[in-house]
Amino acid sequence: MAKPQDNRKGVYIQSYGCQMNVYDSQRMIDVLAPHGYKSVENAEDADLVVLNTCHIREKATEKVYSEIGRLKILKDAKKKTGGNLKVAVAGCVAQAEGAEIMNRAPIVEIVVGPQAYHHLPELLAREARTNGEKLDTSFDVISKFDALGTSRENTGATAFLSVQEGCDKFCSFCVVPYTRGPEYSRPSGKILDEAKSLIDKGTKEIVLLGQNVNAYHGGGDMSFAQLIAAIADLGGVERIRYTTSHPCDMGADLIAAHGQIEKLMPFLHLPVQSGSNNILKAMNRKHTRESYVDIIESVRKYRPDIAIASDFIVGFPGETDDDFSDTLSLIEGIGYASAYSFKYSKRPGTPAGAMMYQIAEEVKNERLQELQALLTKQQTIFNVQKIGTNLPVLITQKSRKNGRLFGKSPWLQSVNLHGEDALIGQIVDVKIVGATAQSLAAERVSVLENA
Ligand code: 5AD
Ligand code: SF4
Repeated sequence: MAKPQDNRKGVYIQSYGCQMNVYDSQRMIDVLAPHGYKSVENAEDADLVVLNTCHIREKATEKVYSEIGRLKILKDAKKKTGGNLKVAVAGCVAQAEGAEIMNRAPIVEIVVGPQAYHHLPELLAREARTNGEKLDTSFDVISKFDALGTSRENTGATAFLSVQEGCDKFCSFCVVPYTRGPEYSRPSGKILDEAKSLIDKGTKEIVLLGQNVNAYHGGGDMSFAQLIAAIADLGGVERIRYTTSHPCDMGADLIAAHGQIEKLMPFLHLPVQSGSNNILKAMNRKHTRESYVDIIESVRKYRPDIAIASDFIVGFPGETDDDFSDTLSLIEGIGYASAYSFKYSKRPGTPAGAMMYQIAEEVKNERLQELQALLTKQQTIFNVQKIGTNLPVLITQKSRKNGRLFGKSPWLQSVNLHGEDALIGQIVDVKIVGATAQSLAAERVSVLENA
């Protein structure tokens, strides 16, 4: 019998930037599926390409325009063979530069902001009729989550779950409060339903996401620590993580949760940005170097082995050599397991963008190199300590390059090992036999599950 024909259209979503965008891209697939779309692996096979963009630094924004240039060539080529490729821009660049994108890049048919992508099917229909507004950058986050529902497609052994969006902190360098809008916490019942849907589909690890995830308040019915405990109690979930946090929202119950909830993994991403109190003040961070160190010490009392990670910005306007030395000495004192570090990037509309004493590019480059050398040293030390130990690894995928299995340790280290495909999705006991700054090499000891 002939196979039934698959008439669905292909959608390819290219995600840039943070994990929030990865989550949003998955939800766009959920939204488009009932309208006859299926996810495809590359733009060449697609009828619709969505660029889910990031506006956090200038470089991230530039990438979007160069990708649009490449898509124009593909669109023209498809047209010649009777095809019709639609191009949509979503995410934070869409929010910040919506109308400008349509003027600058006429091949873009649809522009949709991060709080409006549940309207994608409607926008596509309007576009097909070639009338009506094809730009939606509204900020109605509540109706977005209502429209998305809580049922999820299978995303594999580990899944992102958005619990909170937006930010009210207004760090002076950051565009997020403008592109993602005000802080909003989803009701806990909806989050628990979504978690159950993921667990039913085989998810072992849930990563709770938010721009300022520990500001979660559930509309007043649940603190973030209580939400983690409720998810841990659902059964079926083995690991819980959360990202990313602000020091001012590290409440005592969340700190204690690191010692009390076994399923909460020993990893804390707590961005500090700078070790200088002068710079922290100019950044409007509302915490000091000392209050940050106190939080880390308290968390370590509850969970001495915890891996600490952070984000750093070098070359913030007015940063002196002494300020930069303060950042290096803070890093020396804390001992990081991993970190992201960036050169300050001037963003339109932010208070820091208008500050005097912008730092020269060469100085930023030098500082970034010095900072990254120190962080790489610390990361190597953290990883090498694990050589010779046994630890449980959640196997998430197989490397296309070398056929080895890939997974994560409890401390979020990348682990490579040889093993059969059936182990994907399982927590496997391994022995660590090697380490670099980036990853661990392991050998299998036994499969903990099903034992
Ligand atoms: N320049 C450089 N880095 C930035 N970040 C946010 N805004 C900027 C900017 N204007 C970094 C911060 C934040 C991370 C997500 O991106 O370190 O924690
Ligand atoms: Fe941006 Fe600061 Fe909010 Fe983080 S806390 S999203 S850096 S404004």
